Amino acid sequence: MPEPDAPRPAEPARDPDLCGDGARTPFAKAVGELVFPGMTDSRRELYLRIAATYDWTFGLHGRTARAALWHSRRGQHLRFVQLARLFEPDVVRRGRLWRRPRGAVTINDLGCGYGPLFEWLDRRRWLAPEARYIGYDLSERMIESARRTVSDPRAAFYMAGEATEEADYSFASGTFGMKLDVPDPDWELHCGDVLKGLWAQSRRGLAFNMLNIHGRHTRPDDGGLYYADPDHWAAFAERKLGAARVSLLARYSSHDFTVLAWRR
Ligand SMILES: C[S@@+](CC[C@H](N)C(=O)[O-])C[C@H]1O[C@@H](n2cnc3c(N)ncnc32)[C@H](O)[C@@H]1O
Repeated sequence: MPEPDAPRPAEPARDPDLCGDGARTPFAKAVGELVFPGMTDSRRELYLRIAATYDWTFGLHGRTARAALWHSRRGQHLRFVQLARLFEPDVVRRGRLWRRPRGAVTINDLGCGYGPLFEWLDRRRWLAPEARYIGYDLSERMIESARRTVSDPRAAFYMAGEATEEADYSFASGTFGMKLDVPDPDWELHCGDVLKGLWAQSRRGLAFNMLNIHGRHTRPDDGGLYYADPDHWAAFAERKLGAARVSLLARYSSHDFTVLAWRR
């Protein structure tokens, strides 16, 4: 998720076939239909623009947390720690600190970037040999980098704007932070839609984070970023997703919050 003090995409990519009006040309529409099939023109246009922006940040910063607009790797991992609390009902404890999800757990990661969540889980040995992780991202450069770097047979990476496979747990870290020039109400509808789709593909639970409108570094006029109301999104998880249990985490950061939602 873009942090307010992280490098900003002040100059998003200007490829005339991928951005703004250019995305409406017949050629761009045809390409878009191939890349992101089966969605409305406006959704596809938005996705091409988001993809172009993250392709651009990846070109600028390479395979680093900064490319995913995190201030630092430490900040990126701090968010993973919160998201991983989704596993809590389903962990094996070894000693005081060692926990991991049991057995053949499957994971969806929507907006996976270049694959840092898989690496983070793997380094902590939280993924059993029979576990499966599927990362989805709009940005071709992010997905290419993930595929090139992560050769683990438990991991797969797809260029897509939605989770196409069912999994036990789903994550979205930083996925909703960059709204470009989309007005807040439209972006909220969009996020709600994407979250409903992701929830439908999640057997046990879903965790996502967003920039906090009440955060210390909130700059609401700072074009391009979406600042969300934590209570609104916790209530969304309960009422619109129908989660049996919801947990809202907001104390770990002055920038953002995390919503954990379980089916049971
Ligand atoms: C801020 S980056 C975070 C990447 C990674 N999750 C991390 O924590 O480093 C957000 C990523 O979400 C992707 N993204 C945004 N909306 C998406 C969607 N609907 N489906 C798939 N990827 C999406 C962007 O392309 C970008 O790579």
